[in-house]
Amino acid sequence: MLYIVILAAAHYVAAQVDYSQFVNPLIGSEGPIPGYAFGGGDIFVGGALPFGVAKVGIDTYEDNITLSTLNGGYTPMGKVTAFSMMHESGTGGYAKYGVIPQMPLTTVASPVNLLDNQTYSQARVGNDTARVGYFKTQLENGVTAELSAARHSGIMQYSFPPGEKHVLVDVSHYLPSQSGGYSVQVYVGGEIQLQENGTYTGYGTYGGGWNEGAPFTVYFCGDFDTPPDTSQTFRGRNTDPMQRYHTFSDAATPQAILGNQSEYAGPLNDRLGALFTWSNSSTSQIRSRVGISFISSDKACNFKNIEVPSYDLNATVSAAVQEWNEDVFSKVQVATDSSVNQTNLALLYSSLYFLHLMPSDRTGENPLWESDEPSWDDFYTLWDIFRCTVSLYHILQPTYYESMIRSLIDIWRYEGFMPDGRSGNYNGLVQGGSNADNVLADAYVKGLRGEINWTAGYEAMKKDAEVQPYNTFSHDDPTASVKEGRGALYDWIPLGYVSADRSTRAVSRTVEYALNDFALSQVARGEAPEDVEKYMNRSAQWQNLWAHNVTSLNFTGFLAPRFADGTFNLTGYNPALCGGCEWQAISYEATPFGTSLQHFSRFPANALIEYSFVVPHDAETLIQFMGGSTAFESRLDYIFQPNTSQQNLGANGAGITTIMNIGNEPDFATPYLYNYLNKQWKSVQQSRSLANQYFHDANYGVPGNSDAGALNSWLIWQMLGLYPVVTQTVYLIGSPWFDDLNMTINGNATLRITAALSADQNSTSASAAGGSSFGQEDYYVQSVKINGASWTKNWFDHEDIMVNGGTIEFELGSEPAMWETGDVPPSPGHLIL
Ligand SMILES: *[C@@H]1O[C@H](CO)[C@@H](O)[C@H](O)[C@H]1NC(C)=O
Ligand SMILES: *[C@@H]1O[C@H](CO)[C@@H](O)[C@H](O)[C@H]1NC(C)=O
Ligand SMILES: *[C@@H]1O[C@H](CO)[C@@H](O)[C@H](O)[C@H]1NC(C)=O
Ligand SMILES: *[C@@H]1O[C@H](CO)[C@@H](O)[C@H](O)[C@H]1NC(C)=O
Ligand SMILES: *[C@@H]1O[C@H](CO)[C@@H](O)[C@H](O)[C@H]1NC(C)=O
Ligand SMILES: *[C@@H]1O[C@H](CO)[C@@H](O)[C@H](O)[C@H]1NC(C)=O
Ligand SMILES: *[C@@H]1O[C@H](CO)[C@@H](O)[C@H](O)[C@H]1NC(C)=O
Ligand SMILES: *[C@@H]1O[C@H](CO)[C@@H](O)[C@H](O)[C@H]1NC(C)=O
Ligand SMILES: *[C@@H]1O[C@H](CO)[C@@H](O)[C@H](O)[C@H]1NC(C)=O
Ligand SMILES: *[C@@H]1O[C@H](CO)[C@@H](O)[C@H](O)[C@H]1NC(C)=O
Ligand SMILES: *[C@@H]1O[C@H](CO)[C@@H](O)[C@H](O)[C@H]1NC(C)=O
Ligand SMILES: *[C@@H]1O[C@H](CO)[C@@H](O)[C@H](O)[C@H]1NC(C)=O
Repeated sequence: MLYIVILAAAHYVAAQVDYSQFVNPLIGSEGPIPGYAFGGGDIFVGGALPFGVAKVGIDTYEDNITLSTLNGGYTPMGKVTAFSMMHESGTGGYAKYGVIPQMPLTTVASPVNLLDNQTYSQARVGNDTARVGYFKTQLENGVTAELSAARHSGIMQYSFPPGEKHVLVDVSHYLPSQSGGYSVQVYVGGEIQLQENGTYTGYGTYGGGWNEGAPFTVYFCGDFDTPPDTSQTFRGRNTDPMQRYHTFSDAATPQAILGNQSEYAGPLNDRLGALFTWSNSSTSQIRSRVGISFISSDKACNFKNIEVPSYDLNATVSAAVQEWNEDVFSKVQVATDSSVNQTNLALLYSSLYFLHLMPSDRTGENPLWESDEPSWDDFYTLWDIFRCTVSLYHILQPTYYESMIRSLIDIWRYEGFMPDGRSGNYNGLVQGGSNADNVLADAYVKGLRGEINWTAGYEAMKKDAEVQPYNTFSHDDPTASVKEGRGALYDWIPLGYVSADRSTRAVSRTVEYALNDFALSQVARGEAPEDVEKYMNRSAQWQNLWAHNVTSLNFTGFLAPRFADGTFNLTGYNPALCGGCEWQAISYEATPFGTSLQHFSRFPANALIEYSFVVPHDAETLIQFMGGSTAFESRLDYIFQPNTSQQNLGANGAGITTIMNIGNEPDFATPYLYNYLNKQWKSVQQSRSLANQYFHDANYGVPGNSDAGALNSWLIWQMLGLYPVVTQTVYLIGSPWFDDLNMTINGNATLRITAALSADQNSTSASAAGGSSFGQEDYYVQSVKINGASWTKNWFDHEDIMVNGGTIEFELGSEPAMWETGDVPPSPGHLIL
């Protein structure tokens, strides 16, 4: 007894505050058009653990196909087609997952057809409830469904109205992309077996989705607290469109044929599933546990039994909340009493939550090869998360992060290339460079070692840098591989740039390849010193696309398309446009707006002007090429002015009319570039204004796809008052949002960030005048101390404070101050070709 009490007390200390109560899991669930997910964060809503495999939530179908955006499964108004076990969070493009479902029904009589979700899908009544580890919705048929999740399993609790009670399990269910197209998901086949007591096992195989994935198989094991009175399998011909796999028969959906104990459908054969019915039971509540595995249904059963040991929904919810608090939220501590701005609390802890929904830790669940290394999936994508998301993992979650990197390297060892995107155990798609290189370098320069085999890590990076990946002839871009690696190496190595006539996305890939090679040079310093010079030189090759004489908007010097023969194509060239910003345009950003709005929210923007700022390793040369500090500053100022965008972003553009587009990852660091001019106050002003304008504790609370937490991580850095420079040990100093924040970093060190109103400033807020805090407008830095010593640079090094912890003390005020007199942040890749 005493023993138990002591244990409980220890837990209490570990997570004294239930920070999960501040999380709003619906931030990003809606876009600018009320009721639609379109243009919003595309987030997953439901039960999940940090980096968990199972993400249990609803799948929906939207009647307005033009606006349909089903990526996270959840939509505000869509009709529920199922409660399923696997989802992505924050992705754009074609939907992926939404598999291993259940659907509670109160009738299966005609017109219900078990093979046609349109005959049984359910509108929702009232508002959904979403908390960490818990989701509740009420269906039009009177069923209230509640759910929670463990690591590879979930629990569903259905409260039925009086009358019939059924649970449908359609193994052939997956999230569709409603307007069809090349990368729709497909159901490839499966199996289901029923026990007398209602336990069901089997697997489904699915392929496709945005990353053009090969088929993957998910095994399942489900059961019910009350054995069903009738359990029947069903099957029927698959008439779903299956791009590249199957005919499009245009046939009507057939009726399901009911069977007995088991059904099996080999590749490209029938759809199948099961129907469970309770006719005599006196209980109105049916509870079900489901486990999933990539290895076997036995493992799926074990996960279910061990991770969800009872049918007590609350127990699973409490376990999830405890894990989130201990593993994630308690690592960032701020005061939570009523004196603290509750909106900011919600933004902080919600952002931490979304940061941990992806990737998925599938250690022990790799069906493709045997290895002692950890296994991760749903890097979706590194293009999104290399900029400032992984650097948060580095300080907050070093154990998970080391494991992720080992997995990236293991993927190279067994599949030949590290991924840029990976989902469903399949590498794809590459939007720009091979950005695993940046991730590895960022970890390496900051000293992450542990069990990572860096010899192998560098070999994997070198593969990206030197070996042309084979062409998968993607419909998106058949010119070269978009599966993995760098598709345009055949230009990059001999020409020193990606050419506009032999390659696609020439400008954006040139800029990204340059950073990738800088990443190699940084790891080479430790692993292969003889390579440093080579990759350092290649990291400057972005300069080969710099057209010093192109003038646009009164600014001179831009990246411009160049042919393989060395001449530039400046005919009719406007750097403010990017010709669709698509896979086959001169610059990738996004995808065609216009005809099929629904798929994307990496909206076309002003990619060439934006990409002209994305050279984090050599700001010094960039500033020089743009005409020096004053001209650089004017150009930066310009892109923050409203109504400067020449590219119409439409409903998907979050109302953004500036060239600067904070919903677009390449722009993440741009607002902080004023630090390179020792005008930190402008970085603070611009970034704070973007945060206030586009990030809200509201369903439409992020400016576009959250991209696996990428947007959320930008906001976390903003709130900390810091911004990391990727592939370097440098953090730029911004302005923090909280008076006092303690963060557990590097395992068990503490970083404390405090902010107080400067003694010689008048506060803009009444509460600050009372002495307790600083006001909303008091965000200009007046002075900084690091570890007690006054600090005159607007940046610091990882070693200064991120290894052993320490303190950063800010004095803030309502007026800009020129407090920084030290060196500007370094340009470690400084080199003029
Ligand atoms: C779908 O939404 C679009 C954009 O709001 C609207 O123009 C169109 O009328 C809607 N279609 C239907 C069928 O409601
Ligand atoms: C539901 O039915 C629609 C229309 O037939 C189909 O496109 C979709 O793939 C089905 N499944 C889901 C989960 O929406
Ligand atoms: C649902 O939420 C909205 C917005 O918070 C609120 O206005 C509305 O009254 C709620 N509806 C119900 C049925 O609770
Ligand atoms: C149902 O039967 C299977 C097979 O006999 C058994 O493994 C399982 O534990 C049973 N489940 C329940 C909930 O009784
Ligand atoms: C589960 O938790 C909810 C909310 O805390 C509570 O209202 C409910 O009574 C609990 N149910 C059980 C069965 O403990
Ligand atoms: C941060 O840690 C310091 C030192 O332990 C403590 O005095 C302070 O109250 C903490 N602040 C918060 C917000 O937890
Ligand atoms: C809380 O902070 C938000 C910005 O995140 C701001 O809009 C709001 O006015 C603040 N609320 C109060 C009461 O200061
Ligand atoms: C590390 O990787 C290298 C290169 O693949 C390999 O030769 C070496 O055996 C690995 N070291 C260990 C300890 O596994
Ligand atoms: C502009 O610069 C490019 C590349 O340096 C050169 O090819 C072109 O001739 C120049 N055009 C003019 C009008 O000077
Ligand atoms: C460029 O400069 C001219 C002369 O100062 C001015 O009239 C014009 O408005 C400027 N154009 C832009 C796009 O700022
Ligand atoms: C040169 O660029 C223009 C657009 O700026 C484009 O229309 C044209 O096709 C390009 N020329 C060649 C030969 O690719
Ligand atoms: C805590 O820090 C000490 C000293 O750096 C280290 O030896 C220990 O392993 C760390 N513990 C954890 C749990 O990270």
